[in-house]
Amino acid sequence: MEKNGSLKGLAQSLQSMTDVETLKKEAGIAACKYVRSGMKVGLGTGSTVKHTVIELGRMIAEDDLEIVGVPTSLATEKLALEVGIPLVELSDVDGLDIVIDGADEYDPHFQLIKGGGAALLREKIVAQESKAMIVVADDRKRVDALGAFPLPIEITPFAHQATIRSLGRLLNCRVNCRMSGDNAVMTDNGNMIADAHCGPTISAPEAMEKNILNIAGVVQVGLFNNMCDVVVLAGTNGVETFVNPNGRIQ
Ligand code: 5RP
Repeated sequence: MEKNGSLKGLAQSLQSMTDVETLKKEAGIAACKYVRSGMKVGLGTGSTVKHTVIELGRMIAEDDLEIVGVPTSLATEKLALEVGIPLVELSDVDGLDIVIDGADEYDPHFQLIKGGGAALLREKIVAQESKAMIVVADDRKRVDALGAFPLPIEITPFAHQATIRSLGRLLNCRVNCRMSGDNAVMTDNGNMIADAHCGPTISAPEAMEKNILNIAGVVQVGLFNNMCDVVVLAGTNGVETFVNPNGRIQ
């Protein structure tokens, strides 16, 4: 009986993983409608935007789409090359037309938490250089207040424990060094990630971003304020597009 019960539980959780994967794929592919030939496109990082990258590769191969991409991580660079997206260095171009990226949370003001995949520094540089930012997500990412997802903060390896203590004092919450087994997770930039367990209480993300960036050992924080123009969200109602009324795409 117990065995049947646990098998049923396993089957249910496998089903819900499949459902989430389907939603991610739907959102990732739907966002490609914003990409036109001739564009310079920032390519985000994560399990949702990976579907965007694969679809853009298909559009290049089958629909004569002509774009160049700038990846936000080594993982995305590898995938983009595999699917045939020509890449350029961000330093060699004068800005990007658009970036499509995932998010860990977004709030009603289109403020984001990113960095669950430890790519926040490159993601933020690419977003900052883009004329528009499209976020792809499944509906678990929509929140009333940011912060249930631990806030990722990229920090220098030098004195990282001291920086983590400073962050804990500033934010008045538990801050952990992100680990993979016994080793600290290292970013593509050779830095570490501190995760701040703020609780779902970030009501003033702009002030928080500034205060965190004031700590010398902090390289970047995963609060993406006033950057997101559109969220392409997949949920039980299908794919919906939410346009930021204060954004650059109307
Ligand atoms: C990586 C990120 C990702 O975009 C974010 O974690 C969402 O990833 P996923 O689509 O896998 O949920 O910020 O640093």
